[in-house]
Amino acid sequence: MTRILVTGKDGQVGHELLRALAPVGEVIAFSRADLDLADLDRLREHVRAAKPDWIVNAAAYTAVDKAESEEALATRINGEAPGVLAEEAKRLGAGLIHFSTDYVFSGDKQKPYVESDPVGPINAYGRSKLDGERRIQAVGGRAFIFRTSWVYSARGRNFVLSILKLAKEKPQLQVVADQFGAPTSSRDLADASAALIAAKKAQTSGGLFHLAAAGRTSWYGFAQQIVRLGTERGLCRDVSIAPIPASQYQSTALRPANSVMDCRRAARELGLRLPSWLDSLRKCIAQIEPHGS
Ligand SMILES: NC(=O)c1ccc[n+]([C@@H]2O[C@H](COP(=O)([O-])OP(=O)(O)OC[C@H]3O[C@@H](n4cnc5c(N)ncnc54)[C@H](OP(=O)(O)O)[C@@H]3O)[C@@H](O)[C@H]2O)c1
Repeated sequence: MTRILVTGKDGQVGHELLRALAPVGEVIAFSRADLDLADLDRLREHVRAAKPDWIVNAAAYTAVDKAESEEALATRINGEAPGVLAEEAKRLGAGLIHFSTDYVFSGDKQKPYVESDPVGPINAYGRSKLDGERRIQAVGGRAFIFRTSWVYSARGRNFVLSILKLAKEKPQLQVVADQFGAPTSSRDLADASAALIAAKKAQTSGGLFHLAAAGRTSWYGFAQQIVRLGTERGLCRDVSIAPIPASQYQSTALRPANSVMDCRRAARELGLRLPSWLDSLRKCIAQIEPHGS
């Protein structure tokens, strides 16, 4: 039976991976409390003891604003630790699935980003994730790097749940309308990862792939749909939303203006194609129980 080691099991993607991978193999999953990726020696020991056929790294330092003041720690977790996982996977002959981000790009491009586009992160989180990509690529082996974007889920900390909460508490919301991307469901990412592990062609080689929901929107467009669907389901009130420029939104880290990615390579080479962001948002909202509203 395929042995699959999962890190970050309590995160948005990690939690969905436990569900999606259960029919695919034996899952050995770690939370941050079980296995801190900042401890690189322990990380090696755990991988060697588990002897997995696959490693799926869903753990990451994802606090984008906080990373500005903790770049060394973010780089250890998002850069060095994935490098160690790649080394250990190669040593065992195992496959590795690692998630990276649209934030490796500057956001200046007017069209969707392809994998070969020049990178140029504009914040510490993006730099730390890019470091992880580079370390994995330097090791080689059967490593799949999936760059994804704007991840949300029916649980955890994310934009969908924040907007639903704010739309219960406030009469009007202000949301950034000049940053564009593809909101991606953690459920879809987990299903795609499971499909890759289950597929025979995954046994051959790895690579860098863009893997995000189909379509594009702004944070404002995303919020409008969250409130519309949330109101229908009794999760929030139908509050009005005012579009604002990013320059009016107070945040520590800069965010790219455009992080839409062209995902055709993953479709062509791996047969992985995520649904449209609105279809998946609808499914996510349907999973949230309207208690307390
Ligand atoms: N969220 C997004 O919008 C987004 C966008 C693009 C790419 N990605 C990438 O997608 C992947 C999954 O992200 P996600 O949205 O599922 O993130 P998430 O919900 O923040 O989950 C990350 C998990 O990693 C754990 N973690 C943090 N530091 C750790 C450490 N030192 N050792 C072990 N575990 C640690 C966290 O534990 P705690 O709960 O204890 O903190 C959390 O369970 C990440 O690689 C992320 O960079 C995310």
